[in-house]
Amino acid sequence: MTEEILRVRGLRKRFPGVVALDGVDFDLRPGEVHVLLGENGAGKSTLIKMLSGAYHPDEGQIFVDGREAAIRTAEDAQRHGVATIYQEFNLVPQLTVAENLMLGRPPRRFGIVDKKAMYRHARELLDRVGVDADPRAPLESLGIARMQMVEIAKALGLRARVLIMDEPTAVLTTSEVERLFAIVRQLKRQGVAIVFITHHLEEIAQIGDRVTVLRDGASVAEVPADTPEDELVRLMVGRSIEQQYPRERSTQGAPLLEVRNLTREGVFEDVSFEVRAGEVVGLAGLVGAGRTEVVRAIFGADPYDSGEVLVDGRPLPRGKVTAAMEAGLGLVPEDRKGQGLVLGASIRENLGLVTMRRATKAGFVDRAGQAKAAARVAEQLGVRMSGLGQEVRTLSGGNQQKVVIGKWLLADAKVLILDEPTRGIDVGAKVEIYQLINSLTAGGHAVLMISSDLPEVLGMSDRVLVMARGRLTGELSAAEATQDSVMALAVGELEETA
Ligand SMILES: Nc1ncnc2c1ncn2[C@@H]1O[C@H](COP(=O)(O)OP(=O)(O)OP(=O)(O)O)[C@@H](O)[C@H]1O
Ligand SMILES: [Mg+2]
Repeated sequence: MTEEILRVRGLRKRFPGVVALDGVDFDLRPGEVHVLLGENGAGKSTLIKMLSGAYHPDEGQIFVDGREAAIRTAEDAQRHGVATIYQEFNLVPQLTVAENLMLGRPPRRFGIVDKKAMYRHARELLDRVGVDADPRAPLESLGIARMQMVEIAKALGLRARVLIMDEPTAVLTTSEVERLFAIVRQLKRQGVAIVFITHHLEEIAQIGDRVTVLRDGASVAEVPADTPEDELVRLMVGRSIEQQYPRERSTQGAPLLEVRNLTREGVFEDVSFEVRAGEVVGLAGLVGAGRTEVVRAIFGADPYDSGEVLVDGRPLPRGKVTAAMEAGLGLVPEDRKGQGLVLGASIRENLGLVTMRRATKAGFVDRAGQAKAAARVAEQLGVRMSGLGQEVRTLSGGNQQKVVIGKWLLADAKVLILDEPTRGIDVGAKVEIYQLINSLTAGGHAVLMISSDLPEVLGMSDRVLVMARGRLTGELSAAEATQDSVMALAVGELEETA
């Protein structure tokens, strides 16, 4: 007899050049939220992929309801009542929201897809997660946070006994996280067992019951969810981490990025600011305030109607990414999968995307030099990989993010725009990225950072700009910027010109 719904013993999994799992034990009870915690590349996603039939273990056993189970396919997992929300969305951007919600099992009447029933059912599922989206709209029109809520709605539609969520909150806003937690609590009460992966330590005590810590592919501890955060960190990285936000101010020079009266009708209006050499400027605001839209326009990825962008004193042509890159502008986008990486290419190729372009244009490609530089950057960022030839697709989520950042480090961008740079990055690696930002500004580069993580914005910015509803609502010095002062501007309370 056992009360566990799922029991994992001695799971091992090897990939060419890496041992991803090296002996994992894990228990899951009905009605609990079991958190999986571990550094980028520790093996969390690999473990859940074995539970959902996407990967097969080399060794070890999985028991469902006390009986050994062979979960070989997604159908096997579904038969056992296991549903998974992947870190890398399993959705098809070009299909409609409704089609995604019913991927592979649309309602049929007389053998043909019953569209009416499909849209109705889709509407019900969307209502359950509180997403106001048209089931007929293409999924890609939703934006990344709402896409994630669709992923959750889809799993709910499967009526699972075990629901696995791989970093569901990474792309959600505070209010969406609250909505997700309300859904999770409701599912708990119905006896659903939940596996929950997150890099946001504060969420663990809020929603979790137990925590299994993975380190280098092995389960090293199982502790209650109210274990103090510093203890969790110690279990996870094997040491304690000091100084979450070690911003070191550097001397400021001339403005490297100047944005003047930038306007895109209906999206943002009259946005003006500058970022100086040696400076980190934070761009805060609620999701939907227009921050991503503004930086995409600056970078030339989206058009704008009027205004001007200057890099190092020279105006940039509108809507030309290549010109922006050549002028020394870099953008780490919020959607690394869609815009930051070539998934089928190697780490080396991805790191070299910008520099190789330049070299090819200049007519001289120093392949050996490129490879050396790529190796140095990968080392600097602590990318966990089997080698530079590894396909980016097979890197863990956090390590993919490091590659996107590394691409611009290698390109030596004068002005680096970071849109949610530490999304999916573990606590230890975050500090490394902050240190990189410090060394960039010490070297005379300028950094513009969008982040929804307020402590991060406050901790790392020399100056904070705040946006609300497509406009800049205020500017705060590092000394003036607090949780409250930023939030007040973010909801558009102060300095409002009605
Ligand atoms: N298909 C694959 N081929 C080769 N290596 C792989 C493959 N899938 C995973 N790996 C490797 O296995 C290791 C564990 O990766 P995994 O994705 O499980 O990490 P994770 O704990 O989920 O990390 P993160 O927090 O960054 O998402 C990594 O070194 C990764 O590169
Ligand atoms: Mg992962």
